[in-house]
Amino acid sequence: MENSESNTITFEALKSFCKQAYEAVGVPEQEAEIVSDLLVRSDLRGIETHGVMRLPTYIQRLEKNYVRKKCEFNIIRQKGATATISTNGSMGHVVSQKAMNLAVSLAEIYGVSWVSVKDSSHFGAAGLFSMMATEKDMIGYVCSNSAPLMAPYGGREKILGNNPLSYAFPSDKYPPVIVDFSCSVVSAGRLHLKRKKGEKIPLGWAVDSNGLPTDDPYQGTEGGGSLAPVGAHKGYGLAVANEMLSALLSGGMWSKNIINLHRPDPSGIQGTCHSFMVIDPECFIGRESFKKSADDYIATIKGSKTARGVAEIFMPGEIEARTEARRLEEGIPISKPTVDELVALAKRLNLSIPEFSH
Ligand SMILES: NC(=O)c1ccc[n+]([C@@H]2O[C@H](COP(=O)([O-])OP(=O)(O)OC[C@H]3O[C@@H](n4cnc5c(N)ncnc54)[C@H](O)[C@@H]3O)[C@@H](O)[C@H]2O)c1
Repeated sequence: MENSESNTITFEALKSFCKQAYEAVGVPEQEAEIVSDLLVRSDLRGIETHGVMRLPTYIQRLEKNYVRKKCEFNIIRQKGATATISTNGSMGHVVSQKAMNLAVSLAEIYGVSWVSVKDSSHFGAAGLFSMMATEKDMIGYVCSNSAPLMAPYGGREKILGNNPLSYAFPSDKYPPVIVDFSCSVVSAGRLHLKRKKGEKIPLGWAVDSNGLPTDDPYQGTEGGGSLAPVGAHKGYGLAVANEMLSALLSGGMWSKNIINLHRPDPSGIQGTCHSFMVIDPECFIGRESFKKSADDYIATIKGSKTARGVAEIFMPGEIEARTEARRLEEGIPISKPTVDELVALAKRLNLSIPEFSH
């Protein structure tokens, strides 16, 4: 049992509930299947901040027509291994899966590909999309902008998103290496979760409206403060690069023009932009050789000396892979506040209550 304050549910049961909720508000079956799978997969891998705790917000935005129920995927430019997509406010999860599929198929032809998407919306965990390339033994890269949550280094105005990025590398015996994080010390979702649980945050995660460190999750988000960039000027630099590579390159919206998922009066599409790159190792060392080298590389890092008191060195993505394997067997623990919200959503949409066990 992972957490006594949570209820457990199987991957399939939770996905089925999410799918019913999406279909109940008019999302077509195939798209409901894609977004539900990705959402629940986040919880399966332990990325609670970008899993079903977001479902009530996503559903509400669909109901208010702030997000298109049926996705658009308009290729507005295509040349060789590159494409630019406009989605007119479609669901970020669905368009990102389509965009990564396109990038993989272009890399199969050209060896390297790049697909940029504009006018999208929140896509959840970046790593779910970069990982898709590793299923074909290729290397995946994803970056995105997001609604402003961070001040630039040396500033106090919240004008930058925490703009996540993810790299995914195939390996042979080990799980693929998945580097997947945002450019803030923690994601806004972690602050929302702490707030829901009534907990304080460690100093260093966020600053208040005066730019001073705060332990109050509300002050660091809606209360007027900002998330703190990870590694000071370095995280700030990465956030800038991710927005330039996604929004400026696709001709989409950036900085304050991106609408916050939680703003009560969204007046239009969120406008998030993403970019997807795939590299086929076959054009370099070869797919099989790359995977074998990756295994040697991973073994070298994991075999290196641990710091005092540390039992094991993990590769990026390894903890999530273990969590996934365990939760497929034991079920996914969902925290009490999220369970309550899902039950309330089920009642409101006239759906069967999801089957949680204690
Ligand atoms: N869509 C958006 O706008 C948005 C914004 C922010 C974050 N996110 C997503 O939220 C998720 C969490 O982001 P985050 O910034 O909180 O990341 P995080 O701080 O949870 O770091 C996650 C990364 O660190 C690795 N990691 C964690 N502990 C490790 C350890 N002990 N040893 C080795 N590696 C370890 C993980 O494997 C993963 O690659 C990500 O999936 C990210 O894409 C999305």
